[in-house]
Amino acid sequence: MIKDVQEKILKLKAEKDVCILAHSYMSEDVCEVADFVGDSYALSVKAKTAPQSTVIMCGVRFMAETVKMLSPRKKVILASPQAGCPMAEQFDREVIAEVKKMYPDYAVVAYVNTTAELKTIADVCVTSSSAVKICRAIPQKNILFIPDINLGSYVKAQVPEKNFKLLSGGCPTHAKIEKSEVVAAKAAHPEALFLVHPECRPEVVALADYVGSTSGIMDYAGKSDKKQFIIGTENSIVQHLQFKCPDKEFYPLSKDLVCHNMKLTTLADVLHCLEGRGGEEIVLDENLRKQAVKCIEKMIEYGG
Ligand code: 13P
Ligand code: SF4
Repeated sequence: MIKDVQEKILKLKAEKDVCILAHSYMSEDVCEVADFVGDSYALSVKAKTAPQSTVIMCGVRFMAETVKMLSPRKKVILASPQAGCPMAEQFDREVIAEVKKMYPDYAVVAYVNTTAELKTIADVCVTSSSAVKICRAIPQKNILFIPDINLGSYVKAQVPEKNFKLLSGGCPTHAKIEKSEVVAAKAAHPEALFLVHPECRPEVVALADYVGSTSGIMDYAGKSDKKQFIIGTENSIVQHLQFKCPDKEFYPLSKDLVCHNMKLTTLADVLHCLEGRGGEEIVLDENLRKQAVKCIEKMIEYGG
């Protein structure tokens, strides 16, 4: 049944010149039909170079908006219209404009998990895999980092030569994980390395053997000669890793590490997009797009 749906998808996407991009938090069956699977940074770069005229984004809304910003002539479809990132909605442009007035000599560095509207006020965007590199590379010494306080704290610790102001936003899925859960997981699996996403709280990140993006965690675990890993990010990564590396063992840090927004996209949604009876085409006002894309282009320039 899954194979039948996947075959239909592969046939239709070739016929209709469609590129399917999937964030690494998608389920295995969706990843299998994608042209590219990766973290937020890699998806942004791929979006720019994909030769197809239409892109279906299997992920959350800000990811589809980023694709549209970089490729305005492409038709960009968000596979599941309800899939938003709660962190992206935490601050609006007016609030950040007020904060900016308080710190006029600070560059606004925005995590890519922000709305297109909020990006219009940012100097540069970052993702979890590129934030440290970009904050080091930009010429400004003072950085107002929005919206994720946990990623911001991690970057601040790695880039002590700069001054940071942080806001109190964050990812509800990662930020709820407590240090005691890490202590318990390590006690249950004393041989395992602990790999964590920087959206987790500083006291959780402090216990990690490796800190990185979703792709960073997958690469690290794949290449490591160790055999056991506790995974401190969304639990789909545990499944993908177990699939990719059957000779190793992967343990979820917590059964609650589930992003319900990322879980909304199903294989049926992808098929419905291709059949023209599902998904949502992303439409951005051209002035807003031109303003918002500047910080994404800067991200790619500094991020490499
Ligand atoms: P990555 O850039 O690591 O893929 O992170 C995206 C995200 O939403 C993590 O919660
Ligand atoms: Fe947003 Fe967190 Fe879900 Fe990532 S895991 S999409 S940051 S809510």
